[in-house]
Amino acid sequence: QKPGLELAVVSVPSYACQRHTPLLHHNTTLTDALSILAENAELGENEGRGVAFRRAAALLKSLPQEVRGAEQLRGLPCLGEHSLRVIKEVLEDGVSHEVETTTHSEQFKAMKALTGIFGVGAKTADRWFREGIHTPSDLQRSGHTLNRAQRAGLQYYDELNLPVTKPEAVAIGQIVERAVHAVLPGAEITLIGGFRRGKQTGHDVDFLITHPDEGREEGLMRKVVSWLEAQGFLLYQKTTGNSYLESKEGPARPASNMDRFERYSHPLPQTLVVVGDHAQKVSWVLGHSQCSGPRSWRAVRVDLVVSPYSQFAFALLGWTGSKLFERELRRWAVHEKAMTLSSHALYDRKRVRTLSQTHTHFKYCSGSFLYYQIRDKLI
Ligand code: CTP
Ligand code: MN
Ligand code: MN
Ligand code: MN
Repeated sequence: QKPGLELAVVSVPSYACQRHTPLLHHNTTLTDALSILAENAELGENEGRGVAFRRAAALLKSLPQEVRGAEQLRGLPCLGEHSLRVIKEVLEDGVSHEVETTTHSEQFKAMKALTGIFGVGAKTADRWFREGIHTPSDLQRSGHTLNRAQRAGLQYYDELNLPVTKPEAVAIGQIVERAVHAVLPGAEITLIGGFRRGKQTGHDVDFLITHPDEGREEGLMRKVVSWLEAQGFLLYQKTTGNSYLESKEGPARPASNMDRFERYSHPLPQTLVVVGDHAQKVSWVLGHSQCSGPRSWRAVRVDLVVSPYSQFAFALLGWTGSKLFERELRRWAVHEKAMTLSSHALYDRKRVRTLSQTHTHFKYCSGSFLYYQIRDKLI
Protein backbone atom coordinates (compact mmCIF):
# COMPACT_ATOMS: atom_id res chain seq x y z
CA GLN A 1 0.00 0.00 0.00
CA LYS A 2 1.31 3.38 -0.97
CA PRO A 3 1.57 5.71 1.98
CA GLY A 4 -0.52 8.80 1.75
CA LEU A 5 -3.22 7.84 -0.68
CA GLU A 6 -5.72 8.46 2.04
CA LEU A 7 -4.40 11.94 2.73
CA ALA A 8 -4.32 12.86 -0.91
CA VAL A 9 -8.06 12.49 -1.28
CA VAL A 10 -8.89 14.39 1.87
CA SER A 11 -10.03 17.87 1.04
CA VAL A 12 -8.83 20.34 3.61
CA PRO A 13 -10.39 23.79 4.00
CA SER A 14 -7.87 26.62 4.02
CA TYR A 15 -8.96 28.58 7.09
CA ALA A 16 -7.90 26.94 10.34
CA CYS A 17 -11.28 27.80 11.88
CA GLN A 18 -13.03 25.56 9.32
CA ARG A 19 -11.13 22.48 10.41
CA HIS A 20 -11.24 20.11 13.32
CA THR A 21 -7.92 20.49 15.10
CA PRO A 22 -7.54 17.99 17.94
CA LEU A 23 -5.25 18.66 20.87
CA LEU A 24 -3.59 15.29 20.31
CA HIS A 25 -2.71 14.70 16.70
CA HIS A 26 -0.47 12.62 14.46
CA ASN A 27 2.30 14.98 13.42
CA THR A 28 3.94 16.34 16.56
CA THR A 29 7.50 15.95 15.26
CA LEU A 30 6.68 18.25 12.36
CA THR A 31 4.59 20.71 14.34
CA ASP A 32 7.23 20.95 17.08
CA ALA A 33 9.81 21.88 14.45
CA LEU A 34 7.55 24.51 12.87
CA SER A 35 6.60 25.90 16.28
CA ILE A 36 10.24 26.60 17.10
CA LEU A 37 10.59 28.58 13.89
CA ALA A 38 7.31 30.39 14.59
CA GLU A 39 8.48 31.27 18.07
CA ASN A 40 11.81 32.49 16.74
CA ALA A 41 10.07 34.67 14.15
CA GLU A 42 7.76 36.10 16.83
CA LEU A 43 10.68 36.85 19.14
CA GLY A 44 12.35 38.61 16.23
CA GLU A 45 9.13 40.56 15.70
CA ASN A 46 8.66 39.04 12.30
CA GLU A 47 4.95 38.61 12.67
CA GLY A 48 4.11 37.54 9.13
CA ARG A 49 6.67 34.81 9.18
CA GLY A 50 5.46 33.62 12.57
CA VAL A 51 1.90 33.36 11.31
CA ALA A 52 3.01 31.45 8.22
CA PHE A 53 4.72 28.80 10.38
CA ARG A 54 1.73 28.67 12.76
CA ARG A 55 -0.66 28.18 9.85
CA ALA A 56 1.44 25.36 8.45
CA ALA A 57 1.61 23.70 11.87
CA ALA A 58 -2.16 24.07 12.33
CA LEU A 59 -2.75 22.39 8.97
CA LEU A 60 -0.62 19.42 10.01
CA LYS A 61 -2.49 19.13 13.31
CA SER A 62 -5.75 18.70 11.43
CA LEU A 63 -4.58 15.77 9.29
CA PRO A 64 -6.14 12.38 10.08
CA GLN A 65 -2.87 10.47 10.00
CA GLU A 66 0.87 10.76 10.23
CA VAL A 67 2.61 12.31 7.23
CA ARG A 68 5.40 10.03 6.02
CA GLY A 69 6.40 11.62 2.77
CA ALA A 70 6.21 15.07 1.23
CA GLU A 71 4.17 13.74 -1.70
CA GLN A 72 1.29 13.27 0.72
CA LEU A 73 1.09 17.02 1.14
CA ARG A 74 0.40 17.84 -2.48
CA GLY A 75 -2.62 20.07 -2.92
CA LEU A 76 -2.95 20.93 0.75
CA PRO A 77 -3.43 24.60 1.68
CA CYS A 78 -1.42 26.71 4.16
CA LEU A 79 1.95 25.14 3.44
CA GLY A 80 4.33 27.86 2.28
CA GLU A 81 7.60 27.20 0.54
CA HIS A 82 9.66 27.68 3.68
CA SER A 83 7.46 25.43 5.83
CA LEU A 84 7.44 22.75 3.14
CA ARG A 85 11.23 22.82 3.01
CA VAL A 86 11.43 22.32 6.76
CA ILE A 87 8.85 19.53 6.66
CA LYS A 88 10.74 17.71 3.90
CA GLU A 89 13.99 17.97 5.79
CA VAL A 90 12.45 16.53 8.94
CA LEU A 91 10.78 13.73 6.99
CA GLU A 92 14.01 12.82 5.22
CA ASP A 93 16.66 13.45 7.86
CA GLY A 94 14.71 13.31 11.08
CA VAL A 95 15.72 16.88 11.93
CA SER A 96 15.79 20.28 10.24
CA HIS A 97 19.09 22.05 10.12
CA GLU A 98 17.41 25.43 10.56
CA VAL A 99 15.47 24.23 13.59
CA GLU A 100 18.61 22.80 15.17
CA THR A 101 20.55 25.98 14.55
CA THR A 102 17.73 28.07 15.99
CA THR A 103 17.33 25.92 19.09
CA HIS A 104 21.02 26.21 19.86
CA SER A 105 21.47 29.86 18.99
CA GLU A 106 22.47 32.17 21.85
CA GLN A 107 20.03 34.79 20.64
CA PHE A 108 17.02 32.45 20.62
CA LYS A 109 17.89 31.07 24.04
CA ALA A 110 18.41 34.55 25.48
CA MET A 111 15.25 35.97 23.94
CA LYS A 112 13.22 33.09 25.32
CA ALA A 113 14.73 33.43 28.78
CA LEU A 114 14.31 37.20 28.91
CA THR A 115 10.77 37.36 27.50
CA GLY A 116 9.96 34.66 30.05
CA ILE A 117 10.20 37.45 32.63
CA PHE A 118 6.72 38.80 33.33
CA GLY A 119 6.59 42.35 31.95
CA VAL A 120 9.35 41.91 29.37
CA GLY A 121 8.51 41.96 25.67
CA ALA A 122 10.58 41.21 22.60
CA LYS A 123 11.80 44.80 22.14
CA THR A 124 13.21 45.10 25.64
CA ALA A 125 14.67 41.61 25.55
CA ASP A 126 16.39 42.37 22.25
CA ARG A 127 17.90 45.57 23.63
CA TRP A 128 19.25 43.72 26.64
CA PHE A 129 20.56 40.89 24.49
CA ARG A 130 22.56 43.42 22.48
CA GLU A 131 24.05 44.66 25.74
CA GLY A 132 25.22 41.14 26.52
CA ILE A 133 22.43 40.24 28.92
CA HIS A 134 21.38 36.67 28.18
CA THR A 135 19.73 35.39 31.33
CA PRO A 136 17.61 36.66 34.22
CA SER A 137 20.70 36.45 36.45
CA ASP A 138 22.65 38.61 33.98
CA LEU A 139 19.81 41.10 34.22
CA GLN A 140 19.81 41.04 37.99
CA ARG A 141 23.56 41.72 38.02
CA SER A 142 23.31 44.44 35.37
CA GLY A 143 21.78 46.96 37.74
CA HIS A 144 19.20 48.00 35.13
CA THR A 145 16.23 49.89 36.49
CA LEU A 146 13.22 47.64 36.15
CA ASN A 147 9.57 48.54 36.33
CA ARG A 148 7.30 46.95 38.91
CA ALA A 149 6.02 44.23 36.65
CA GLN A 150 9.56 43.24 35.72
CA ARG A 151 10.71 43.23 39.32
CA ALA A 152 7.84 40.91 40.22
CA GLY A 153 8.63 38.85 37.12
CA LEU A 154 12.27 38.48 38.10
CA GLN A 155 11.49 37.71 41.72
CA TYR A 156 9.04 34.94 40.79
CA TYR A 157 10.78 33.90 37.58
CA ASP A 158 10.92 30.15 38.19
CA GLU A 159 7.41 29.83 39.49
CA LEU A 160 5.91 31.93 36.74
CA ASN A 161 7.62 29.81 34.13
CA LEU A 162 6.42 26.59 35.67
CA PRO A 163 3.38 25.46 33.66
CA VAL A 164 0.10 25.87 35.51
CA THR A 165 -1.61 22.50 35.89
CA LYS A 166 -5.31 21.79 35.56
CA PRO A 167 -5.75 21.18 39.32
CA GLU A 168 -4.04 24.52 39.99
CA ALA A 169 -6.35 26.19 37.48
CA VAL A 170 -9.34 24.69 39.26
CA ALA A 171 -8.03 25.86 42.65
CA ILE A 172 -7.53 29.38 41.31
CA GLY A 173 -11.02 29.22 39.81
CA GLN A 174 -12.38 28.64 43.31
CA ILE A 175 -10.52 31.68 44.64
CA VAL A 176 -11.80 33.83 41.78
CA GLU A 177 -15.32 32.54 42.33
CA ARG A 178 -15.16 33.39 46.03
CA ALA A 179 -13.93 36.87 45.20
CA VAL A 180 -16.56 37.47 42.54
CA HIS A 181 -19.45 36.14 44.57
CA ALA A 182 -18.36 38.12 47.60
CA VAL A 183 -18.78 41.34 45.66
CA LEU A 184 -21.50 40.36 43.18
CA PRO A 185 -23.69 37.37 43.94
CA GLY A 186 -25.14 35.75 40.83
CA ALA A 187 -22.17 36.59 38.63
CA GLU A 188 -21.05 33.80 36.33
CA ILE A 189 -17.43 32.72 35.96
CA THR A 190 -16.16 30.74 32.98
CA LEU A 191 -12.74 29.25 32.45
CA ILE A 192 -11.46 30.46 29.07
CA GLY A 193 -8.13 30.32 27.18
CA GLY A 194 -6.19 27.11 26.78
CA PHE A 195 -7.89 25.25 29.62
CA ARG A 196 -11.27 25.73 27.95
CA ARG A 197 -9.77 24.10 24.85
CA GLY A 198 -8.91 21.05 26.91
CA LYS A 199 -5.23 21.73 27.50
CA GLN A 200 -3.89 20.13 30.66
CA THR A 201 -1.35 22.91 31.34
CA GLY A 202 -1.04 26.59 30.53
CA HIS A 203 1.21 29.60 30.99
CA ASP A 204 -1.62 31.29 32.87
CA VAL A 205 -5.28 30.83 33.80
CA ASP A 206 -7.95 32.90 32.05
CA PHE A 207 -11.46 33.65 33.31
CA LEU A 208 -14.46 35.45 31.86
CA ILE A 209 -16.97 37.01 34.23
CA THR A 210 -20.45 38.30 33.50
CA HIS A 211 -23.82 38.83 35.20
CA PRO A 212 -27.24 37.96 33.72
CA ASP A 213 -28.55 41.42 34.64
CA GLU A 214 -26.90 43.68 32.09
CA GLY A 215 -25.09 46.51 33.83
CA ARG A 216 -24.50 44.73 37.12
CA GLU A 217 -20.99 43.87 35.89
CA GLU A 218 -20.01 47.55 35.85
CA GLY A 219 -17.28 48.33 38.32
CA LEU A 220 -16.93 44.63 39.09
CA MET A 221 -13.26 44.36 38.21
CA ARG A 222 -12.24 47.01 40.70
CA LYS A 223 -14.22 45.35 43.47
CA VAL A 224 -12.85 41.90 42.72
CA VAL A 225 -9.31 43.21 42.70
CA SER A 226 -9.85 45.02 46.01
CA TRP A 227 -11.28 41.89 47.57
CA LEU A 228 -8.36 39.76 46.42
CA GLU A 229 -5.94 42.41 47.57
CA ALA A 230 -7.53 42.60 51.00
CA GLN A 231 -7.36 38.82 51.32
CA GLY A 232 -3.68 38.84 50.47
CA PHE A 233 -4.00 37.07 47.14
CA LEU A 234 -2.34 39.61 44.88
CA LEU A 235 1.37 39.95 44.34
CA TYR A 236 1.06 42.24 41.40
CA GLN A 237 -1.83 43.59 39.40
CA LYS A 238 -2.24 45.80 36.42
CA THR A 239 -5.17 46.73 34.25
CA THR A 240 -4.72 47.91 30.70
CA GLY A 241 -6.39 48.69 27.40
CA ASN A 242 -7.78 46.06 25.12
CA SER A 243 -6.91 42.65 23.80
CA TYR A 244 -4.07 42.54 21.37
CA LEU A 245 -6.53 41.34 18.78
CA GLU A 246 -8.51 44.51 18.96
CA SER A 247 -6.27 47.19 20.36
CA LYS A 248 -5.41 48.24 16.87
CA GLU A 249 -9.02 48.78 15.96
CA GLY A 250 -9.38 51.59 18.44
CA PRO A 251 -9.89 55.27 17.68
CA ALA A 252 -6.15 55.87 17.35
CA ARG A 253 -6.12 53.80 14.17
CA PRO A 254 -9.18 54.22 12.03
CA ALA A 255 -10.44 51.08 10.36
CA SER A 256 -9.03 50.66 6.91
CA ASN A 257 -10.05 48.26 4.22
CA MET A 258 -6.75 46.55 4.61
CA ASP A 259 -7.10 43.30 6.44
CA ARG A 260 -6.86 44.59 9.97
CA PHE A 261 -6.39 41.11 11.30
CA GLU A 262 -3.17 40.80 9.41
CA ARG A 263 -1.97 43.54 11.72
CA TYR A 264 -2.39 41.40 14.82
CA SER A 265 0.19 42.92 17.06
CA HIS A 266 2.76 40.46 18.02
CA PRO A 267 4.47 40.58 21.38
CA LEU A 268 1.81 39.74 23.87
CA PRO A 269 1.41 42.44 26.42
CA GLN A 270 1.49 40.45 29.60
CA THR A 271 0.12 43.25 31.64
CA LEU A 272 -2.99 44.60 30.35
CA VAL A 273 -6.05 46.39 29.67
CA VAL A 274 -9.03 48.40 30.66
CA VAL A 275 -11.47 49.44 28.03
CA GLY A 276 -14.05 51.64 29.58
CA ASP A 277 -15.94 49.92 32.31
CA HIS A 278 -17.41 47.42 29.92
CA ALA A 279 -14.74 45.14 28.61
CA GLN A 280 -12.12 45.04 31.21
CA LYS A 281 -9.23 42.76 31.41
CA VAL A 282 -6.84 42.57 34.26
CA SER A 283 -3.70 40.56 34.40
CA TRP A 284 -2.51 39.35 37.74
CA VAL A 285 0.26 37.61 39.34
CA LEU A 286 -1.70 35.81 41.95
CA GLY A 287 -0.18 34.37 45.05
CA HIS A 288 -1.28 33.87 48.59
CA SER A 289 0.45 35.28 51.58
CA GLN A 290 -0.65 33.27 54.53
CA CYS A 291 2.64 34.36 55.93
CA SER A 292 3.18 32.05 58.87
CA GLY A 293 4.74 28.67 58.30
CA PRO A 294 6.14 27.26 55.07
CA ARG A 295 4.79 28.87 51.95
CA SER A 296 1.71 27.06 50.74
CA TRP A 297 1.17 29.03 47.56
CA ARG A 298 2.86 29.75 44.31
CA ALA A 299 2.73 32.71 41.94
CA VAL A 300 0.50 32.14 38.91
CA ARG A 301 -0.48 34.46 36.09
CA VAL A 302 -4.21 35.06 35.96
CA ASP A 303 -6.11 36.95 33.28
CA LEU A 304 -9.57 38.14 34.10
CA VAL A 305 -12.03 39.54 31.58
CA VAL A 306 -15.38 41.13 32.45
CA SER A 307 -18.06 41.24 29.80
CA PRO A 308 -21.61 42.62 29.73
CA TYR A 309 -24.11 39.81 29.33
CA SER A 310 -25.14 40.97 25.87
CA GLN A 311 -21.56 40.52 24.65
CA PHE A 312 -20.86 37.33 26.54
CA ALA A 313 -21.05 35.00 23.53
CA PHE A 314 -18.54 37.07 21.59
CA ALA A 315 -16.25 37.45 24.59
CA LEU A 316 -16.35 33.71 25.20
CA LEU A 317 -15.54 32.98 21.58
CA GLY A 318 -12.87 35.66 21.39
CA TRP A 319 -11.03 34.71 24.56
CA THR A 320 -11.04 30.96 24.17
CA GLY A 321 -8.31 31.01 21.54
CA SER A 322 -6.08 29.70 20.26
CA LYS A 323 -4.55 32.89 18.93
CA LEU A 324 -4.33 31.40 15.46
CA PHE A 325 -7.92 30.15 15.61
CA GLU A 326 -9.15 33.63 16.56
CA ARG A 327 -7.13 35.24 13.84
CA GLU A 328 -8.39 32.80 11.23
CA LEU A 329 -11.98 33.14 12.40
CA ARG A 330 -11.82 36.90 11.99
CA ARG A 331 -10.08 36.63 8.64
CA TRP A 332 -12.72 34.18 7.48
CA ALA A 333 -15.51 36.49 8.68
CA VAL A 334 -14.06 39.42 6.74
CA HIS A 335 -13.11 37.70 3.50
CA GLU A 336 -15.75 35.02 3.17
CA LYS A 337 -18.71 36.52 5.00
CA ALA A 338 -18.11 40.28 4.71
CA MET A 339 -18.53 40.54 8.45
CA THR A 340 -16.42 41.89 11.27
CA LEU A 341 -16.03 39.77 14.36
CA SER A 342 -14.61 41.05 17.61
CA SER A 343 -14.89 39.84 21.18
CA HIS A 344 -17.78 42.29 21.59
CA ALA A 345 -19.92 41.77 18.52
CA LEU A 346 -20.36 40.54 14.99
CA TYR A 347 -21.04 43.24 12.42
CA ASP A 348 -22.41 42.84 8.96
CA ARG A 349 -20.13 45.00 6.88
CA LYS A 350 -22.59 45.14 4.01
CA ARG A 351 -24.99 47.02 6.23
CA VAL A 352 -22.47 49.01 8.18
CA ARG A 353 -20.84 50.26 5.00
CA THR A 354 -23.94 52.21 4.08
CA LEU A 355 -23.51 54.34 7.19
CA SER A 356 -21.29 57.36 7.39
CA GLN A 357 -17.62 56.71 7.95
CA THR A 358 -17.73 58.19 11.42
CA HIS A 359 -20.72 56.15 12.35
CA THR A 360 -19.15 53.04 10.89
CA HIS A 361 -16.06 53.59 12.91
CA PHE A 362 -18.05 54.18 16.02
CA LYS A 363 -19.97 50.99 15.42
CA TYR A 364 -16.84 48.96 15.03
CA CYS A 365 -15.52 50.35 18.25
CA SER A 366 -18.63 50.44 20.36
CA GLY A 367 -17.92 49.00 23.75
CA SER A 368 -14.23 49.59 23.34
CA PHE A 369 -14.33 53.28 22.74
CA LEU A 370 -12.68 54.52 25.87
CA TYR A 371 -9.06 53.69 26.03
CA TYR A 372 -7.16 54.56 29.10
CA GLN A 373 -4.24 53.28 30.98
CA ILE A 374 -4.28 52.70 34.69
CA ARG A 375 -0.98 53.14 36.40
CA ASP A 376 0.43 49.89 37.67
CA LYS A 377 0.34 49.06 41.30
CA LEU A 378 2.61 46.69 43.07
CA ILE A 379 0.74 45.03 45.82
N1 CTP B 1 -5.93 37.18 24.14
C1 CTP B 1 -6.14 38.46 23.69
N2 CTP B 1 -5.29 39.47 24.04
C2 CTP B 1 -4.22 39.23 24.83
C3 CTP B 1 -3.97 37.93 25.30
C4 CTP B 1 -4.86 36.93 24.93
O1 CTP B 1 -7.09 38.69 22.97
N3 CTP B 1 -3.41 40.23 25.16
C5 CTP B 1 -6.90 36.13 23.81
C6 CTP B 1 -6.53 35.28 22.63
O2 CTP B 1 -7.67 35.00 21.91
C7 CTP B 1 -6.01 34.04 23.27
C8 CTP B 1 -6.76 33.95 24.58
O3 CTP B 1 -7.03 35.29 24.92
O4 CTP B 1 -6.27 32.93 22.49
C9 CTP B 1 -5.95 33.28 25.65
O5 CTP B 1 -4.67 33.86 25.67
P1 CTP B 1 -3.42 33.22 26.38
O6 CTP B 1 -3.71 33.03 27.82
O7 CTP B 1 -2.25 34.07 26.04
O8 CTP B 1 -3.23 31.84 25.58
P2 CTP B 1 -3.78 30.40 25.86
O9 CTP B 1 -4.36 29.94 24.59
O10 CTP B 1 -4.66 30.39 27.07
O11 CTP B 1 -2.46 29.58 26.11
P3 CTP B 1 -1.75 29.28 27.53
O12 CTP B 1 -2.30 27.97 27.94
O13 CTP B 1 -0.30 29.24 27.26
O14 CTP B 1 -2.11 30.38 28.47
MN1 MN C 1 -4.04 31.24 28.92
MN1 MN D 1 -3.97 34.79 29.15
MN1 MN E 1 -12.38 44.76 22.51
